[in-house]
Amino acid sequence: MGQFVVAGGRRLAGAFEVSGSKNAALPILAATTLVAAPVTLKGVPLGLSDVQHMLAMLRELGVRVAPASPSRVTVDASGPLSSVLPEQYTRAMRASVFLMGPLLGRLGRVTVSRPGGCNIGPRPIDMHLKGLAALSVRFDDRPGGRIEGGGASLRGAVIYLDFPSVGATENVMMAAVMAAGETVIENAAREPEVVDLAQFLNAMGAEVHGAGTDRVWIRGQLPLHGGCYELIPDRIEAGTVAIAAAVTGGDVTLAHVIPEHLTPLWRKLTDMGVEVRPSAEGMRVSASGDLAAASLRTGPHPGFPTDLQPLMLALMTQAAGCSTLVETVFENRLRHALEMRRMGANVLTDGRMAVIYGPTPLDGAVVEATDLRAGAALIVAGLAARGTTVVLGADNVARGYERWAERLSALGADVILDP
Ligand code: EPZ
Repeated sequence: MGQFVVAGGRRLAGAFEVSGSKNAALPILAATTLVAAPVTLKGVPLGLSDVQHMLAMLRELGVRVAPASPSRVTVDASGPLSSVLPEQYTRAMRASVFLMGPLLGRLGRVTVSRPGGCNIGPRPIDMHLKGLAALSVRFDDRPGGRIEGGGASLRGAVIYLDFPSVGATENVMMAAVMAAGETVIENAAREPEVVDLAQFLNAMGAEVHGAGTDRVWIRGQLPLHGGCYELIPDRIEAGTVAIAAAVTGGDVTLAHVIPEHLTPLWRKLTDMGVEVRPSAEGMRVSASGDLAAASLRTGPHPGFPTDLQPLMLALMTQAAGCSTLVETVFENRLRHALEMRRMGANVLTDGRMAVIYGPTPLDGAVVEATDLRAGAALIVAGLAARGTTVVLGADNVARGYERWAERLSALGADVILDP
């Protein structure tokens, strides 16, 4: 499992180079199975365990994978591919469902295990299945929780998503690229990672319009070709470091960041008294005075990103007054609040809502990273705490943050990874 050991009280300062986006890399790597030619991707966070899992799954399916540098990989899906996703991978990583759309597009069939819930909610895939079924895929349940998709060849359709699900939008988009005729996704997710996937597909010869709006239009069956594509920077990693700088009264410049991807965070930090301004290198985040309480409600993009909610909760423990936080995207994403209470945080939770009174001095404690962002938030709380915090479950953090102890330490933090 491993653990992070954080000695609190250090101010973060300096420059931080943001990695390529995990949540863009996973669907784009899956989408390479649509292309029967070599594709080179740049800015891939190859050090993340989720990305390594996706690459292992691609290899298992028959894709040739050749990492060339810490952030560059060439994948070649020109050979014969299997349509069956091995169960050990689907169990280990939810993002394996991203392979459904492209494998249906490329091979006309797919077999996957139904992913279970995870620590942030039940996370069903009903909208993925409904969207793909609208493209004429027939799904049958098989023993052992397996689902088999196939049947008639794919045909474009108009699909309305009941919720702007990121994964369902991406899955349908990838399958629709190979469907006959046109597909329209209504109430589509508008996240920057959805836009990045559309731009990748277009760079390979597809025609996807409207990504970034709630109506995405795809012309299917255009011939795809190989090529080279660079992923967007990871807005959640950038936001995590911005919040870490704020909680320590620090001064950090984020390089390789697209500021518009984080508008809700910049606004909220500014409301709380943090100075945020563009600089020649990227975005500079500095906090010198007291932090003010705030209220926050997560929502699909361009709402406040749910992935930064746990980090904001850590920051709110250090803000003067009563902060409120409502999680609208996931059912069970406040478990970090209970862990922070072990550190002395004054937080009450009720269902999807948290009320935080601050500023409360935090004390180091042994806490558990119940999921990726909860782990990142507990490390941030540890940076603000007196004494030493031990964050158990370091493998959860390694899913989404590369060389985390090393990179925070380069900003002046005292964090080590104890494997
Ligand atoms: C993506 O997950 C991200 N993961 C998540 O990041 C992120 O939190 C989430 O989008 C929301 O922004 C990747 O991109 C790999 P959703 P995804 O489908 O696609 C419900 C992180 O920390 N839902 O938009 O799974 C679902 O249960 C991770 O990096 C259904 O009910 O998110 C949830 O409550 C965690 N049925 C809500 O919709 C479905 O068929 C939003 O999920 C699909 C989703």
